[in-house]
Amino acid sequence: MKTIHLDLGERGYPIFIGENLLDRRDLVAPCIRGHQVLVVSNETVAPLYLDPVLQAFDGYQCGTLVLPDGEQYKTLKTLNTIFDTLLELHFDRKCTLVALGGGVVGDITGFAAACYQRGVDFIQIPTTLLAQVDSSVGGKTGVNHPLGKNMIGAFHQPRCVIADIKVLDTLDDRQFSAGLAEVIKYGLIQDAEFFCWLEENMERLLARDTDALIHTVHRSCQDKADVVRADEKESGIRAILNMGHTFGHAIETGVGYGRWLHGEAVATGMLMAADLSHRLGWLSEKDIARIDNLIDKACLPTRAPADLQSDQFLELMAVDKKVSGGQIYLVLPRAIGESVVCADYDPAMLKQTLEAHLAVGSGVN
Ligand code: NAD
Ligand code: GLY
Repeated sequence: MKTIHLDLGERGYPIFIGENLLDRRDLVAPCIRGHQVLVVSNETVAPLYLDPVLQAFDGYQCGTLVLPDGEQYKTLKTLNTIFDTLLELHFDRKCTLVALGGGVVGDITGFAAACYQRGVDFIQIPTTLLAQVDSSVGGKTGVNHPLGKNMIGAFHQPRCVIADIKVLDTLDDRQFSAGLAEVIKYGLIQDAEFFCWLEENMERLLARDTDALIHTVHRSCQDKADVVRADEKESGIRAILNMGHTFGHAIETGVGYGRWLHGEAVATGMLMAADLSHRLGWLSEKDIARIDNLIDKACLPTRAPADLQSDQFLELMAVDKKVSGGQIYLVLPRAIGESVVCADYDPAMLKQTLEAHLAVGSGVN
């Protein structure tokens, strides 16, 4: 097992990465202050992994709540079912919530923990690759509002994260690849050496080789922890973690939620960011080809949807992120392994990027 300590003073916590960790009482016990534990999961993950997790909490007053599966249930209404359960069980301020699932379960359970009795402890047990390398680390929690994704939320750090890579065996290939988009993102934004490693080891990863997976989750969490440690509440540098996301959110919204997975849209979004970066004279043709090849190797789409127009796309991008003097802030690669948050690019170049990508089209059908 590997351990990373995310040092945030009194909010700091360990991230455990390894195999067969779900029933490890020794990992969770030091994180629990009271004697009450509520494990929140969903109808897909609970039948697979709830039993071993409950073994780790043997001896505590332990409740369970199984939510419906899907992004469409990441709502205030579902959140309220967690509060109902906590109140019905008479859970006090020393209780601990446990999120067992992907990013949806993690975000909603973390937000419940942030709100219940003005804040209780929670533990993240992420079960998708995306959740293990991204959403379980860093303390962003929340739910969607009909008018915007992740618009209601709070920063609330978990007491520990337990990433058991064995649970990824049951994840389907498309969801696995979607997680790889966030992995590639770390290489592109800040870790050139990891980018090279991914180029050499993508086949092993797709075959879900244990050592390759442990290395990938560990390196990704290390990269994310470095950024979160520097800027916990995203007043500056943490924004680089959104590389590809402004383009990606425009794709997700433009084609209609659910058609493209978040990671698929981020992958194509990173290529669009790279294209703009090339037009600004930062990335070479060779760099673009390397990024394109790696995304393609990870079985992710390298082309934007064919059915979106550039004007519509620009409008969607403007809704998603902050605008400065009419200009959209974008995270752009300066080189492979280096990125900047930038608003002073030539808007005509952004338009050229959109036209170049949207004209080619294809992506996910
Ligand atoms: P998800 O939670 O919807 O999981 C994807 C699917 O995989 C679901 O059907 C789930 O039930 C299933 N699943 C989970 N684990 C499984 C397993 N081991 N075996 C088989 N099936 C399994 O999606 P996700 O990609 O994990 O997370 C996406 C969510 O994360 C979005 O809501 C996004 O906004 C959020 N997110 C949050 C952050 C953050 O920093 N908090 C970062 C990135 C994404
Ligand atoms: N997933 C982006 C962040 O945690 O900041």
